[in-house]
Amino acid sequence: MPERFTVTTPIYYVNDVPHIGHAYNEVATDVLARWHRMRGDDTWMLTGTDEHGQKIMRTAAANGVSPQEWTDRLVESAWIPQLELLNIANDDYIRTTSERHKVGVRIFLERLKEAGYIYHGEFEGQYCVGCEEYKTANDLVPGTGEFEGQLVCAIHSRPIEVVREANYFFKLSEFGDRLLALYEERPDYVQPEHVRNEVRQFVKQGLNDLSISRNTFDWGIKVPWDETHVVYVWFEALLNYITANGYGVDDELFARRWPAVHIVGKDIARFHAVIWPAMQMAAGIEISSHVFGHGWLLVGGEKMSKSKATGIEPRQITEVFGVDAFRYYFMSAIAFGSDGSFSWEDLDARYHAELANGLGNLASRVIAMVHKYCDGVVPEVAVDADILALTTDAVGRAERAIDRFAIDEAVDAAMSIVERLNGYITEQAPWVLAKDEAQRDRLAAVLASNVHGIGAAAILLAPVMPETAQKLWAAVGGEGDVLAQRIQAAHEWQGTGRVTTVPPLFPRIEQAQPAS
Ligand code: MSP
Repeated sequence: MPERFTVTTPIYYVNDVPHIGHAYNEVATDVLARWHRMRGDDTWMLTGTDEHGQKIMRTAAANGVSPQEWTDRLVESAWIPQLELLNIANDDYIRTTSERHKVGVRIFLERLKEAGYIYHGEFEGQYCVGCEEYKTANDLVPGTGEFEGQLVCAIHSRPIEVVREANYFFKLSEFGDRLLALYEERPDYVQPEHVRNEVRQFVKQGLNDLSISRNTFDWGIKVPWDETHVVYVWFEALLNYITANGYGVDDELFARRWPAVHIVGKDIARFHAVIWPAMQMAAGIEISSHVFGHGWLLVGGEKMSKSKATGIEPRQITEVFGVDAFRYYFMSAIAFGSDGSFSWEDLDARYHAELANGLGNLASRVIAMVHKYCDGVVPEVAVDADILALTTDAVGRAERAIDRFAIDEAVDAAMSIVERLNGYITEQAPWVLAKDEAQRDRLAAVLASNVHGIGAAAILLAPVMPETAQKLWAAVGGEGDVLAQRIQAAHEWQGTGRVTTVPPLFPRIEQAQPAS
């Protein structure tokens, strides 16, 4: 039986076009999904868009169109094209304005109400429309500039709004002990450790019930038993993870796809690791397998965001460096789980050092030498023992890293093959061996070892750089699709025994940062 691997991205707000923070999230999830597919797991990657709520309603109004028109426009012109641009192989895409989502949300709410977890009550709260979240005093900081003298949201630097309404509530406060027990019993449920600690601290302080409806605007899903209310956008958005998989409608599908692994930014880990599991407990569905909270991309030391004008669109980078280099850079340069600063200089330096001079150069040299010294035929001799040990070790390290969500370490393991082979070529100097008839066997072993190493690296790099990996794979005589190879056996691959050609993989770039 293959293992099940259902993995999700957050669903993105469509108030604006995507930036590289969103792309980071999507690429990381895609790499995990591709990796598991290559293991042979029953893999399902879900992504989508979060289309209700005040933020989107206001943005639509400011642009003079209805919220539905606005979301349709953004999804079609920006969010779906972004997946194509980044070569994301998602299996499904859920929109919260879709019928299947609305149906599932209503079923879930009815069940929660029947189970006694929803009540009607008075409410006053401080709301940040940017976050679509009620804030506590700890979440607010003194404003600066035009907001001097007011308290503002620490994330958006904008004033909060006071909401006074009669709403429906979810009895979140009843779940504190069960949540703490969950974190204890399953220490790898919330990762990495610092996010787990933060979440535990938050729950230990005591939970308040959660207001889950609004009745002062109507851009949302109506509460089934009271159509004067729409469901609070976060409560509804979290349900995308199950409404996409047949919850309440197709039990067989749901049983096959659920539970899921959620890859989210650390800023929304609390929603996923506190509110969401409490909702799951209340509704009697299995708790998600993991919530991994990755770090932020920082620009100039701050979380990169469109609202603070530090937003960079993925296209600005892919147009210069290509999609695979984009994916590689963000997956390798930042420890997954930590914040990482983006700079054009760092991207440019790593592109040239690791990809152009490291990987690209290795492949073109080796392929050229097999043509030159062996007429393109890979010598049928044993691979040097230390090179076989190198690839075997790299596969093991990469596999273990992926199970810890340490994507950067998995990439590092793959690239350790490239780095070592470059050193090995310099040491073995095949061009010297080629001049000496007595060294024919040695030359054969060195070339076979290099071809073997590049093939193994191509398989391990395929989830991160699918297009480049396919070119490398074909060049070393791999058959068919590199993505169809078993990643856990990358060190055992066998090819046709003939190399082909390798196109230029990473051309040199003169001007990294596009003139703005
Ligand atoms: N709609 C909610 C999620 C609902 S999931 C049930 C949301 N959307 S978002 O568009 O604001 O953010 C989506 C994801 O992008 C979040 O995981 C967030 O952490 C991530 N990022 C936004 N800016 C980012 C960076 N600068 N760096 C890394 N990730 C960033 O929240």
